[in-house]
Amino acid sequence: MRYNKFALLFLSLATTGIITVPLDRVNAHGDVTPQAIDTSELPDLGEEWLEENPWRDPSTKEWATAIKIGASGYNQNCARCHGLEVISGGLAPDLRHLEANIDGDEWYLERYQNGYTQNGSNKMPAFGELLGQKAAWAIRTYIETRPADGALDDHTNRLKEIRDTLKGFVENGKKAEEISAEINPLIAEMDKIAKSVETASEAPIADSAASRAVSFLSSDKIDLPKATEALTVGLSAAQ
Ligand code: HEC
Repeated sequence: MRYNKFALLFLSLATTGIITVPLDRVNAHGDVTPQAIDTSELPDLGEEWLEENPWRDPSTKEWATAIKIGASGYNQNCARCHGLEVISGGLAPDLRHLEANIDGDEWYLERYQNGYTQNGSNKMPAFGELLGQKAAWAIRTYIETRPADGALDDHTNRLKEIRDTLKGFVENGKKAEEISAEINPLIAEMDKIAKSVETASEAPIADSAASRAVSFLSSDKIDLPKATEALTVGLSAAQ
């Protein structure tokens, strides 16, 4: 009660300009206004905050969608401090190590919802109310599926060879069904590579050039140009 009275008094003084709230403090790291992201492709989760990432399971169809949306949300809201591709440059902790389980989720949500303030200076903005929980779990899924440092190194050369083979098929105007005998073993090989790429969070499958390429070659919708592009983009980002 007492507290509320003081809060009200403070607010009225602040709005009348008798006390000025140091707004620039809130943006100690520059203009870190949270950027809303379009999460409409993902199913609604309701009002109540969940305790665990609902899109963690790679066998669900939401997994890849969550990663795609999370990548964009992360790049717009988190990368400036936590690093591109979630590789920290030292400004803020490396988030790839947060365990992909309910304990890691608890800590993740605590920071995501409340941000972080030290000695009155804002080090990380609060995102909870502005971006909401669908964005939270999409970003979470993106973060926990980053490959660990160097996890793709042993496979980079082979994946480039496969990429060149696929590119050859595309350039020669081959249709996937004409060359299934040549393509199927390559898909199987990339699938095996995709499953062996480690994450620091211990999430079961990393989102990598290999997993993305395989997703464009699954039986019902084979898209050779997209698979080739996924390899090119993913492998150049890994350098
Ligand atoms: C303005 C810089 C900044 C931005 C932007 C930012 N963070 Fe942070 N974040 C920090 C700092 C600094 C810490 C360290 C605070 C501490 O000591 O716990 C931190 C800590 C965290 C932690 C706890 C990590 C750990 O190992 O303890 C999580 C999780 C986190 N941030 C998630 C995010 C997410 C998700 C976003 C984007 C939606 C984001 N942060 C945006 C600066 C930032």
